[in-house]
Amino acid sequence: MLSNIIANQKVHELYGGVVPELASRAHIQNIVPVVTAALKKAETELSTLDCIAFTQSPGLIGSLLVGSQFAKSLALSLNKPLVAVHHMQAHVLANLIPDNKPSFPFLCLTVSGGHTQIVVCESPTQLKVIGETIDDAAGEAFDKSAKLLGLPYPGGPLIDKYAQQGNPGRFQFPEPKIPNLNFSFSGLKTSILYFLQNAGKSNIYKEEFMATEEEKKIFIENNLADICASIQDRIITILLNKLKKASKETGIKDVCLAGGVSANSGLRKAFKETGEKNGWNTFIPAFEYCTDNAAMIAITGHYKYLAGEFADLSVSASARAVF
Ligand code: KG4
Ligand code: ZN
Repeated sequence: MLSNIIANQKVHELYGGVVPELASRAHIQNIVPVVTAALKKAETELSTLDCIAFTQSPGLIGSLLVGSQFAKSLALSLNKPLVAVHHMQAHVLANLIPDNKPSFPFLCLTVSGGHTQIVVCESPTQLKVIGETIDDAAGEAFDKSAKLLGLPYPGGPLIDKYAQQGNPGRFQFPEPKIPNLNFSFSGLKTSILYFLQNAGKSNIYKEEFMATEEEKKIFIENNLADICASIQDRIITILLNKLKKASKETGIKDVCLAGGVSANSGLRKAFKETGEKNGWNTFIPAFEYCTDNAAMIAITGHYKYLAGEFADLSVSASARAVF
């Protein structure tokens, strides 16, 4: 991996979430400087590249359009092959970047801001989703909980930080009963909302428990670390219980994590411990390959290039697409 340049967009912090139009404008501003910096860091130039890989889907259409038009223009002008990459496939294949790779078939729990999936990866280009969320993603569960606690966006890393000082057994939140290998996080979000509205007295709605804004604020201030640790602990058990079920049902023991939420220190630790107890070979990408990054698109581009899976110039970005 010669370079892995990422342009973070600070503009969204002001609004407590990603504003699609601002995201695409920032993409337009950043794309040339990012490509220039990537080539410089890699000490190479455009003419030496074998292929241009870009994210085709899924995501915010305005941002995807900027990247896809740029990649297509570059491929056309340089007369290089073009590879269209699925963002969620790329998160999974981030596990193939280091020398120590999982063997095929492996299982991957992909947890990001927009997706929560359990995937069977038969080969770099054959992936099958065997479980996914029916509502919110795990990253959304972190970010929405953080918002309810008054923390800035994206709140996932902050919950992780405060949870490290907290007691995960202090407050109880429900584990949803969802069939098969699917997930649901919207009930957890509602129970956290009621729990905070009641200043910790209960996580079901009761008129007589409703606290004033001031009481709520004081409760959060005094218990922030324990609340974060308890929320995080519940999200982790929901994720890992399904992953254990998936390993049991498929018999696959090479198990990976991927996606932005796999940067969570509690999840990384619990995942390793679960792996030890269940005889798994566990794999987690390095931090810089967990949250969205260029390297995961490159590694997917590499394998699709080897498999001869090229796109032509009629390819277009898509907000939603399965792989
Ligand atoms: O994969 P990603 O970078 O972007 C998407 O494809 O969505 O994932 C972003 C998500 C956000 O929800 C963010 O809060 C979460 O990953 N995240 C974390 C941590 N670092 C990033 N969640 C919990 N703990 C973290 N340390
Ligand atoms: Zn992502």
